[in-house]
Amino acid sequence: MTVIPPGSIIGILGAGQLGRMTALAAARLGYKVHVFAPESMDSSCGQVVAHHTQAGWHDLRALARFADDVDVITLEWENVPTYAVEFLARHIGVHPGANVLSVAQDRVAEKSFANKLGIGTAPFRAVRNLEQLTQATAEIGLPAILKSTRMGYDGKGQLRLNPGDDLTGAFDAIGSDEAILEGFVDFEREISVVTARQADGSILSYPPVENRHKSGILETTTVPAAISPDVAAEAVRIAEAIASELHVVGLLSVEMFVTRDGRVLVNEMAPRPHNSGHWTLDFAETSQFEQLVRAICGLPLGPVGVIAPCVMTNLIGDDVDQWQSILAEPGARLHLYGKGDARPGRKMGHVTRPTV
Ligand SMILES: Nc1ncnc2c1ncn2[C@@H]1O[C@H](COP(=O)(O)OP(=O)(O)O)[C@@H](O)[C@H]1O
Ligand SMILES: [Mg+2]
Repeated sequence: MTVIPPGSIIGILGAGQLGRMTALAAARLGYKVHVFAPESMDSSCGQVVAHHTQAGWHDLRALARFADDVDVITLEWENVPTYAVEFLARHIGVHPGANVLSVAQDRVAEKSFANKLGIGTAPFRAVRNLEQLTQATAEIGLPAILKSTRMGYDGKGQLRLNPGDDLTGAFDAIGSDEAILEGFVDFEREISVVTARQADGSILSYPPVENRHKSGILETTTVPAAISPDVAAEAVRIAEAIASELHVVGLLSVEMFVTRDGRVLVNEMAPRPHNSGHWTLDFAETSQFEQLVRAICGLPLGPVGVIAPCVMTNLIGDDVDQWQSILAEPGARLHLYGKGDARPGRKMGHVTRPTV
């Protein structure tokens, strides 16, 4: 396995808070970071790195210059166009690779991939028009959720369909005519697992954590998840099976539903650090961001133990105004992302509190 030593330059595609926290972890281990993104230097990640290329994903010259400047590339946004990643990979290692992205960017592809491995998901159908949607609702039943196949996040591009709903206009409501209809899972809880995998196949997962969402946006992550050892082991097995089968180098984060009868179903996956892994910054032996750096640079993976049970709460929109009182709270660990405008629904920071 190639070792990329401290002192080297890590390239990050994307400039949001996940890139920012990855860059800070990289700096702690003595790496330099060069970020490539369409956003300006004042982005969440741009603010904390010395090297920044502001260019579009189609700008092959800028991509080539970027590839020449860095020693390895990773990404903090799974929707980087695969053509850009394939182009970069002709020059330098990009982890995770385009094969992983092409599955993770497409809800139909990711669910089909899981099913192919014998891993359960909500029942689903790819639907592109009203006729297919009508047929799919008849097969899957209602309630169900219609989602845009690509680019959705924080519950955007989704519509819940209930019995008796008029389906006309459903595609307009989600803003896409490439969609997936998913049966509604009456889950007991939502959990996730962040797995790290290296080029030599070594693999290590954080324990499953429990996620609560509000209006489609992650609100809290509770560590560890209140699930049986069997369910926890199954969740880890699932995440590791997908990461191995996709030959992920870096991180794979898998969101799952635990059903009332104890089954574990995959909801979605992201080949990058995950919001539900932010607790690791303060309450795990190694943070998910450092683990990503270790994984892509061929360093030994760090231990993944929980230092203390905790709850991570996202600061969304003007929740961030609470920063002063959070700072005054003993034990609370505050992280702010350097975003200027606290628009409703925007992730501005998070706080993690120990629960014992
Ligand atoms: N098939 C489903 N059944 C029940 N709830 C769902 C289903 N799909 C999504 N949800 C709920 O909506 C949330 C957001 O959906 P998700 O597919 O994870 O999209 P996003 O990319 O926006 O995170 C999930 O975490 C879950 O709470
Ligand atoms: Mg999700």
